[in-house]
Amino acid sequence: MNRKLHIAIVALVVVVFAFGAWLNLRHDDPPENAAVGGMVVNVDIGGPFELTDHTGAQFTRDDLAGDYALIYFGYTFCPDVCPTELGLMAEAIDLLEGDGERVRPVMITIDPERDTPDVLSEYVPLFHERLVGLTGTEQEVRDVATKYRVFYRRFEDPSYTYYLMDHTSFVYLLSPTGEIASMFRYQTPPEEMAATIRQHMRSQSKG
Ligand code: NI
Repeated sequence: MNRKLHIAIVALVVVVFAFGAWLNLRHDDPPENAAVGGMVVNVDIGGPFELTDHTGAQFTRDDLAGDYALIYFGYTFCPDVCPTELGLMAEAIDLLEGDGERVRPVMITIDPERDTPDVLSEYVPLFHERLVGLTGTEQEVRDVATKYRVFYRRFEDPSYTYYLMDHTSFVYLLSPTGEIASMFRYQTPPEEMAATIRQHMRSQSKG
């Protein structure tokens, strides 16, 4: 993978997000739970989606309602970044022990050409027994990525016989009502993710 470019894109997106979050804070009070932990989230990010899961069934955001979800956008052919992040996500859920059962891990592919339900069904159990793999048409994937402000593009290098994808690498925490409660930067320690999720769970049970 073109690591330097990948890192540069991630860094740029972090700066853009940080600036957006700062602007958002300047103009509005943050929504009640947007700043509990992780990054402060611009309220415009996120929304419903319609995709297909790794069993071939239709899967929408409503299928996550009632539970927390950790969502990662990536692709199965990714040599390093995606497997690392999916591993950290799974670790965070395991650290939550019983409460982890209220958190559904989800991976949305940004490479639907390769990542058919069949390909995803072989990949997702490698990381977590409950990991849901989601794919869709080019347009469906484009739509959900746009809503969640995920940047991706095909990366071709003449010296490879295959293509890679450059993509942003955040983990999104969705609340049981489907709003983004928090975002975690690439390589956020699982302990930190778990602590943030616990905080959200606590503040919610109070409300
Ligand atoms: Ni990747």
